[in-house]
Amino acid sequence: MDRKLERLLVTGGCGFIGSAFIRRLLQGSVFAGKIVNIDKLTYAGNVENVEGLVDSSRYQFVHGDILDAAEVRRVCRDFAIDTIVHFAAESHVDRSIDGPLVFIDTNVVGTARLLEVVREMPSIHFHHVSTDEVFGSLGPVGAFSETTAYDPRSPYSASKAASDHLVRAYAHTFGLSVTISNCSNNYGPYQFPEKLIPLMILNMLERKALPIYGDGGQIRDWLHVDDHVDAIWSILWSGKAGETYNVGGNSERTNLQLIDLLMGIVSRETGAVPAELEGLKTFVRDRPGHDRRYAIDASKLQRELKFGPKHHLIDGLTETVRWYLSNPRWIERVRSGAYREWLDRNYASRATHESV
Ligand code: NAD
Ligand code: TYD
Repeated sequence: MDRKLERLLVTGGCGFIGSAFIRRLLQGSVFAGKIVNIDKLTYAGNVENVEGLVDSSRYQFVHGDILDAAEVRRVCRDFAIDTIVHFAAESHVDRSIDGPLVFIDTNVVGTARLLEVVREMPSIHFHHVSTDEVFGSLGPVGAFSETTAYDPRSPYSASKAASDHLVRAYAHTFGLSVTISNCSNNYGPYQFPEKLIPLMILNMLERKALPIYGDGGQIRDWLHVDDHVDAIWSILWSGKAGETYNVGGNSERTNLQLIDLLMGIVSRETGAVPAELEGLKTFVRDRPGHDRRYAIDASKLQRELKFGPKHHLIDGLTETVRWYLSNPRWIERVRSGAYREWLDRNYASRATHESV
């Protein structure tokens, strides 16, 4: 398929996965082009996840909102964008239960606005980054395939499902070139410490309670973020327009199993006494509507694009624990919001995009 991939617009590139995508492309050898990153910098977006870590002559940050179609249009024109890789989203299920509407704005309306821009510039290829949560919840057996019927059950997953439908509908009706990936739970460095893995690691390090929702028997399929990024890259490079690809880690664990793994790693890495960590486990009220099990059948990606994840779960988790141990400043700044003051000072008066 080999499409033109020289000037990428990444949305949400200051978040966990988008920043991993930018770092990997700009630090590695597979991509020789330039990247523009448009990010609104919500609580989850941190310019420090990219800035200073990549070659600035190939990277441009634009502080902007995907709901602002005029700004997105301007960026696409000014930078002659050939591909949009759409990560920007509200991404945390618990927050979607506390306040669903921002999820509808960003995930549904935001995606629709981007598609409107692509409709005006149909030479742009649009890759939509989505989640396995759109398929709902599984019983003890079976796995989601690309043709599994959608059955979203949280405001987050419903908003992502709506965005997937819009992407397919725009492709079908207006002839846009799109690809979609639906991925399982990611873990790795730079993940905001509200999600299970970084929250548990930090609470273990600080000897705080480990809040386990319900009975802790819910199952997720864990994938290292760099494997997700590599999957997206191979879909961009050789995925067929109009197709959807499931991405999974082949690493299903109950939440309790995962927390036990993390406790073992934290105790090995820090010398913490296992019984002391064990004593931090605290069963709390379950998440409303909590999905019981997700599992991904990623055979299409393997068969058609020869892609499979490279990280072994234990190695990936060990590397992740070490990253959080080595980056206390990042942790302190995302928790305190200090990086946001820095942002105001640095970006308030700076022209946004003249250098790429
Ligand atoms: P994240 O919450 O870490 O980052 C989201 C980024 O989007 C932040 O930088 C935020 O500032 C930005 N953003 C939010 N609203 C915006 C707006 N209106 N305009 C511009 N930027 C905006 O999320 P993540 O975990 O990196 O997830 C990225 C994508 O991957 C999401 O679409 C998510 O649904 C999908 N996904 C995530 C996982 C996972 O395990 N984290 C798994 C599968 C799919
Ligand atoms: P999370 O990281 O929020 O991802 P998602 O809900 O998108 O799968 O949660 C992963 C699992 O961990 C999920 O079953 C909810 C559970 N969980 C806890 O038990 N305690 C926590 O404090 C958090 C944040 C999650």
